[in-house]
Amino acid sequence: MSRPICAQINLAALRHNLNQVRALAPKAKIWAVIKANGYGHGVGRVANQLASADGFAVASVDEALILRQKGFLHRILLLEGIFGADEINLVEQHRLEMVVHSPYQVNWLLAANIQTPIKVWVKIDTGMHRLGFSPQAFKQIMIKLQNAQPKISLHVMSHFASASESDLFTAKQLQVFEQATKKLDYPRSFANSAAVQNLTCAHFDWIRPGIMLYGAGILSKLQTQFRAVLTFRTQLISLKWLDQGEGVGYGQTWQTQRRSLIGVAAAGYGDGYPRHAPSGTPVLVNGQRAQIVGRVSMDMITIDLTDFADSVQIGDPVILWGDGLSVDEIADSAGTIGYELLCGITQRVPIIEINDEI
Ligand SMILES: Cc1ncc(COP(=O)(O)O)c(C=O)c1O
Repeated sequence: MSRPICAQINLAALRHNLNQVRALAPKAKIWAVIKANGYGHGVGRVANQLASADGFAVASVDEALILRQKGFLHRILLLEGIFGADEINLVEQHRLEMVVHSPYQVNWLLAANIQTPIKVWVKIDTGMHRLGFSPQAFKQIMIKLQNAQPKISLHVMSHFASASESDLFTAKQLQVFEQATKKLDYPRSFANSAAVQNLTCAHFDWIRPGIMLYGAGILSKLQTQFRAVLTFRTQLISLKWLDQGEGVGYGQTWQTQRRSLIGVAAAGYGDGYPRHAPSGTPVLVNGQRAQIVGRVSMDMITIDLTDFADSVQIGDPVILWGDGLSVDEIADSAGTIGYELLCGITQRVPIIEINDEI
């Protein structure tokens, strides 16, 4: 038998989550965001299951071409646009759609000899201050592009900084977007997963859900409606009783407060389990919530199983996150976000596909 770790991917959960997204935003078209190798789930696998989305959104031409090479004919949006003027040819040739967020990209478009129509999504910086034009600059850019390039069909978009909290800042971003776009008759896109769940008024024509398709980043009121796609699994490979006052693991950062049963599971930061996960981070052992103790090693974690001594044995299943234990909870404990954990599962972890329809 080989090392017992795997990332189990439930294909049915992807399809289910897409249906749930559609139910939340029935009037909007859906860009399924599958950049960064489908948030670490494997872009081809994810695209197959999400094929009924209206289009795919990715980070670069390279990511888009992987989809074209796999035979996907969908609309594909480049969320950061192009990185060089030479990519315009590829955009035309492969029928890609591009975000335009900076003057240099506008200049490339104006200078290009465009033969086939290109769909361009002009990005407004509504306050996040990452990519996009100020509302004032946006107006001028739209006029410039409209007048100079009849082969360009225009669309507008923006991005939320914190739509998981329906706070004043989010309301302000929405107001800036409405103000800048209300007199224009172009398709609009604003909502990421948080806004899809939180802000119906921000759905507009196209939503751009990412993390929620993978069953993470879900509001508590919607938890039961979405399913974790990836379950990170391993097994117990050692069990050992320690006396009170013994240290566990590198640096001996955790000491037993009583006679303790310590289990070792085959998973560590070499697999993508976060090294910063502190003692107390939950894991499921045989479906029961236990806690890791001591430092995360490259290939192993240590777990306090004292309270489960009667029911655990070597070979028992351990879930690091996924089914029954949200990746968001582990991320929170480790001071990061679910996105990073999902993207960070390493190459050595085998992927197992299942198709569990419930
Ligand atoms: C421009 C843009 N739109 C949509 C998304 C999807 O966001 P989420 O995964 O939070 O739904 C992202 C992700 O980072 C993004 O950068």
